[in-house]
Parts: sequence; structure tokens; C-alpha cells
Amino acid sequence: MSKEIVVSGIRSTGHLHLGNYFGAIQNYVKMQDAYNCFFFVADYHALTTHPDPKELRANVFRVLAENIASGLDPEKVALYAQSDVPETNELYLLLNMLAYVGELEKVPTFKDKLRQHPDNVNAGLLTYPVLMAADILLHKGAKVPVGKDQEQHLEMARNFAHRFNTRYNEEFFPEPQVFRFSDETVKIMSLDGIGKMSKSENVNATIFLSDADDVIRKKMMKAKTDQGPTEPNSVMPDYIQNLFVLLNTVSTPEVNATFRDSFNNCSIRYGDMKKQLAEDMVTFITPIREKAFELQQDHDALRKIMKEGAEKARASASKTIEGARKLVGVNYY
Ligand code: ADP
Ligand code: TRP
Repeated sequence: MSKEIVVSGIRSTGHLHLGNYFGAIQNYVKMQDAYNCFFFVADYHALTTHPDPKELRANVFRVLAENIASGLDPEKVALYAQSDVPETNELYLLLNMLAYVGELEKVPTFKDKLRQHPDNVNAGLLTYPVLMAADILLHKGAKVPVGKDQEQHLEMARNFAHRFNTRYNEEFFPEPQVFRFSDETVKIMSLDGIGKMSKSENVNATIFLSDADDVIRKKMMKAKTDQGPTEPNSVMPDYIQNLFVLLNTVSTPEVNATFRDSFNNCSIRYGDMKKQLAEDMVTFITPIREKAFELQQDHDALRKIMKEGAEKARASASKTIEGARKLVGVNYY
């Protein structure tokens, strides 16, 4: 039986952080054997908000290196840069004919950008979900491992697929579904307790895969806490819950249980918990950081990997484009 097709992308807008790792990359690594995977660096998507050419290039190489250092094997998956697959642009154009301006204007991520950067509301931002749908449908992707923040975009990709199929009267595109390994979507909050950890928000409250040991320790120790619970079995504030989420990911179950018990019986000392978490985090990140650093010393090797990835992606993409052109009626020879 042929393997199911999986597609996902990460924007090259900065250094990768724990949210990207636990929300996305960890799942990519777990999927690479059982599925036919297309993973890419979304450099065009990055252009909507981060247009500096020098930074963009450096970010693309770093994101690639950090993905490989986290365990992605370019022999098993197609690992490439979005802009190396020009078929994406053609499908993006065709899907734009099916996307309504009204629905694009209602997308929460677009409204956020409108609020945050009223001086840079470019059309690329408005059609961001169309480009994302093109990335996925280009390979007839069935499953898309992404964090919770991308669910709305996925729903739009399903709508565009459905609309295309209906208009051209053929089940051409599957409707792609969000994929995750457990019922819970992982969301890593920022260590200041405000919003999610993110590449471009508060960098002091975000732990990056490239952070040095001392930087990790310093950031962890500054994570938001409070006086501690005064009633047994209290409800955890979300910023404390977040520390437990992190403990769960990098520390042993015993350590986790010990701190959970001490929270429940009100004896918890957050300083001790953060110290332990910092050390476990350092142990977790150090090998990834070192490997990513090593990979980034050899851009030629990374270029070779992304070129081979793009070839795999284009082989799949050209088939889809040929079929789509035929259905749309723009094939004359
Ligand atoms: P960022 O918001 O940092 O720019 P991206 O938008 O490039 O990150 O997201 C890349 C992937 O990482 C997506 O699948 C997204 O859902 C996931 N992701 C990003 N931030 C977090 C977070 N704080 N917690 C969980 N997953 C996240
Ligand atoms: N929009 C996604 C994000 O901000 C990145 C992305 C672009 C993506 N194209 C995609 C994710 C296709 C999954 C599939 O995180």
C-alpha cells in the first residue's frame, strides 16, 4: 500500500524555538518512516513580514540545519525550500481564483497582522492561506502536522480543495487534515506568560534551539511564577501549567511527579523547579545546537540537501499541476 502524503512548512523568519520543536518538528521526526513526507522552509511566507534578503537567506540555511539536527533525515523525507518549487506559484494563482476576498479578510491571523502592522498590509498577507493551501495541495497532502495556531488555515485549505473539486467536477484534491499524535495540541507559552512562544515576539521569554547553556539558564530562571498555591490541589495558572508542560517534555516522569505533588500539597519552590528544568533543558538542547552549528559550517552540503529535496518535490508537484491545468482548461498542446 502506498504511504499517506504528509506536508508541512516552517517559516524562515528567525531562530527556531521550543514551540516549533514540540509543536511541529518533533512530529515530523516521528512521521518520517511511516509516511511520504514533504517538509519545507516557507521562505515565500516569510517574505510577507520579513523581507530583509540577507536575514532571509541566513534563516533558510539555519532552519534547514536545525530541522536536520533535530532528527529529520533528508534521505527519508523531501526537505526543501518553498521557492525552489515554482509549481507552487502556479497552483497559488489558480487557487486565488477560488478564494474570496471577504473570507480572507476574516482570517484571525490576517486581522492580527492588520492590527500589529497597519503600515504593511500587503496582498501577500491577505492571500497567505491561499499560498499555504497551494503548498499542501501541490502534493495532494492528506495530513498536515502543525500547531493549534494553524488550524484555521487548514480549514481554508480544505475549503479551497472542495471548491476546486466542485467547480471542475472531479475529486482531484483530498481535503487535508491537521495531524497530531495525541488529542492534546501542544502549545508552548512564552515564559513571560504572554501569548505563545514565537520567533519574533519577546526573545527573552523564548528559548531557541540555538541558545547557549547560560542563556537557557538565565531565561528559565526569569520565567514568570508567583508566591505558589495556598490551597491544596489548586488550579494551576497557565504560566505554571506551561512550566509543567516543559518539564513533561524534557525531564523524567519522576521529576515531573515530584514537582506536581509538591504543587498539590503547597510545598513547591518554583526556584528549585526552574533550576531543575533549566538543567534538563540544557541537556536536551545542547546536542541539537551543536549539530546545527556544525551543519551550518557547510552551506554546500545544505545546498545539496535542499536541491535533492526540491527535485523530489517537483516530481510530485509537476504531476499535480499537469492535472490541474487540464481540469481548468489551460492546456493547449
Ligand atoms: P512562529 O510563530 O514562531 O513564527 P511558525 O509560524 O513558523 O512559527 O510555525 C512553525 C510551526 O511551529 C507551526 O506548525 C506552528 O504551529 C508551530 N508553533 C509555533 N509556535 C508554537 C508554539 N509556541 N507552541 C506550539 N507550536 C508552535
Ligand atoms: N503558515 C505556517 C506557519 O506559519 C507555515 C506554512 C506554510 C505551512 N505553508 C505550510 C504549514 C503548509 C503547513 C503546511 O506556521
